[in-house]
Amino acid sequence: MSDFGVTGHDGAVRRWWSVGRLAILGFAGVLMVLGVVLIILATSDRDLAAEEERENVLAGSDNVCVGCHANTTPGIVDQYGHSTMAAANVSCQDCHEVAADHPGAVAHEDTWVLADPTTAMCERCHPAETRQYLASRHGIPAYVAMVGKEWLSGDLLAMYDSIPEAAPNPNEERNALYALEGPAVTRFACEGCHNIGRPAPDGSVGECQQCHLRHEFSLEQARKPETCNACHIGPDHPQWEIYQESPHGIAYATGGYRWNWEVEPGRATVMDIPAATCALCHVSGFGGTGTTHDVGERLTWYLFTPVSEMRPNADDNRVRMQTVCLECHNQGFIDAFYSDAAAATLAVNEWVLESREIMQPLAEAGLLTPEPFDDPIDYVFFELWHHWGRTAKFGAWMQGPDYTQWHGAYEVLSDLAELREMVVERLDAAELTGG
Ligand code: HEC
Ligand code: HEC
Ligand code: HEC
Ligand code: HEC
Ligand code: HEC
Ligand code: HEC
Ligand code: HEC
Ligand code: HEC
Repeated sequence: MSDFGVTGHDGAVRRWWSVGRLAILGFAGVLMVLGVVLIILATSDRDLAAEEERENVLAGSDNVCVGCHANTTPGIVDQYGHSTMAAANVSCQDCHEVAADHPGAVAHEDTWVLADPTTAMCERCHPAETRQYLASRHGIPAYVAMVGKEWLSGDLLAMYDSIPEAAPNPNEERNALYALEGPAVTRFACEGCHNIGRPAPDGSVGECQQCHLRHEFSLEQARKPETCNACHIGPDHPQWEIYQESPHGIAYATGGYRWNWEVEPGRATVMDIPAATCALCHVSGFGGTGTTHDVGERLTWYLFTPVSEMRPNADDNRVRMQTVCLECHNQGFIDAFYSDAAAATLAVNEWVLESREIMQPLAEAGLLTPEPFDDPIDYVFFELWHHWGRTAKFGAWMQGPDYTQWHGAYEVLSDLAELREMVVERLDAAELTGG
């Protein structure tokens, strides 16, 4: 029986049904729209509530700096007014005001200020964080990596020598690039990242504001991986790209907006942060592990070197990192993961050693120029370990299969083949010229 040509009682019932159906559909539609509106209202209510929790404590302040800067730099005053430090009565003067003879001081409105407060200012109230930071490669070693150790004097040299992790160092080839490119370029290149360990005129070292962007000093901002991606990115250390493709990064990208980013330091649990971030693995207090500003404190290998070796404090460091993992994974899983990643690290070591063997006959025959980076073969030899070897290792340790494979191992193999061919060609050419 079809609907076509149906009349009488049956037809009337059907028409009633279709009108009824329309009405029900319409009603459901209205309900859905209402629901969406209600959800939007509810979430914006929540956002408002969060905003209200942090009111601007500097509104109506009689602090002399605030009084004037509310007009000259309203953004800075507003950001700082919402920080927990302002709520704890830390003033503009606490970070900026110094004695007239403080190196770098500028005369300003009947007093002396630092335009760029140094770690010496933070250290007075945060001695532990500053000490940890200065004991890490984020401290003076980051600066030495650019400019070399020779210029260090007195206190700075002592600071450098006291850092156990500073040792496997200045890699000649990379420092050569700094000089080769020159200050007009490196000011915007190397220094953009390595100034995290820059010494200030007052002798203190480092720049806390590289991670704690002024003037909010927000935990959420420091904890999110985008903060690290300012520097941990690109072909030679693609930790950011690797993180994005890892299950941890995917959990962050898809659900991170719900995580409890402002949880008090040292009290974070898996209920607050349910998947790992850069900061969680390398900095944050989590479960049984305390917050540290020494980013080397949880590492077992020197992965950035051409041929990786274990670090001096590897055993303690491993325990610290694994204590973080164990909040979310079991010991068997983590042990297996660590031994597999170590095997991958050793495999990359073998390839880098092989590349040196391939180059050996050229060196012996005196066919390599003494200058770095003046010959295409220098670049192939360098990229093999500096870009691709490192990337393969980082990818293995931080769960980025595409980086271990196509941006890592594959590129190493391809460069090994290229090196072999270049070396044979040069030896042949030399014999031809010689004979
Ligand atoms: C009467 C107004 C006024 C007062 C009071 C004042 N400032 Fe300023 N401040 C300014 C102005 C205007 C500038 C911008 C100057 C410029 O661009 O050359 C400035 C610039 C600064 C700078 C940047 C300096 C630089 O060389 O880049 C800092 C830091 C600063 N003020 C901190 C403070 C602190 C801390 C206090 C309180 C001890 C304070 N100011 C009090 C008006 C004031
Ligand atoms: C907890 C430390 C701290 C406090 C408190 C603080 N500042 Fe700063 N401020 C900094 C740091 C660090 C910088 C330098 C940042 C940089 O170089 O990127 C800075 C830079 C500035 C500058 C220079 C900006 C520029 O780009 O030239 C001004 C102006 C300034 N602060 C004003 C203030 C005022 C006004 C207050 C109080 C409302 C204040 N600061 C409170 C740490 C602080
Ligand atoms: C005069 C003392 C003082 C100085 C100087 C100072 N701080 Fe603080 N800072 C505090 C206090 C007190 C707190 C605790 C606020 C709270 O948790 O209630 C704090 C908290 C913080 C926090 C954690 C914020 C949070 O939401 O828990 C950061 C990050 C921070 N400070 C960074 C810095 C940096 C970077 C500098 C130097 C540029 C600096 N501080 C200089 C006293 C100071
Ligand atoms: C302003 C740039 C910059 C930012 C931002 C930055 N780093 Fe670094 N980081 C560096 C540099 C440069 C080095 C290498 C220093 C060296 O070995 O010479 C480094 C090294 C490291 C190391 C290796 C330490 C070692 O002992 O070998 C870790 C781990 C690390 N950073 C983690 C982080 C994390 C996590 C964040 C974000 C919370 C972060 N970094 C933010 C520049 C930065
Ligand atoms: C995008 C930020 C960035 C730039 C630009 C950059 N680096 Fe680095 N560099 C890093 C980071 C991050 C590491 C740490 C890698 C790791 O530990 O995995 C590093 C590591 C190093 C190391 C090895 C660590 C050590 O202490 O021996 C040297 C040397 C180095 N960089 C020199 C340079 C030089 C020279 C330049 C410019 C020609 C430069 N870097 C440009 C971020 C940067
Ligand atoms: C590599 C990035 C990075 C640098 C550089 C950095 N911090 Fe932090 N800081 C963090 C992160 C991430 C946290 C949050 C820690 C947590 O989740 O437990 C933090 C937390 C803090 C806190 C709150 C800790 C607590 O236990 O209450 C203070 C205070 C602080 N930092 C001060 C500093 C000072 C001072 C410097 C410079 C000497 C500095 N930070 C440099 C990343 C950094
Ligand atoms: C799941 C935890 C985890 C996350 C998330 C993570 N890392 Fe790592 N990271 C590790 C482990 C494990 C190693 C290797 C440790 C070792 O040597 O024992 C490592 C190594 C490193 C190194 C190499 C140091 C060297 O020796 O050259 C750097 C730099 C680094 N991570 C930075 C980052 C940054 C930046 C992010 C975020 C973009 C990040 N990590 C995310 C666990 C993590
Ligand atoms: C805050 C919780 C948390 C921490 C801490 C954490 N992970 Fe994870 N991890 C996860 C989640 C969530 C996943 C994704 C779900 C899954 O595969 O089980 C995951 C997945 C993984 C995977 C699976 C990768 C794959 O491709 O299948 C590995 C390997 C891993 N984590 C290693 C580590 C290591 C090593 C550490 C410590 C250095 C660590 N995790 C720390 C939550 C965490």
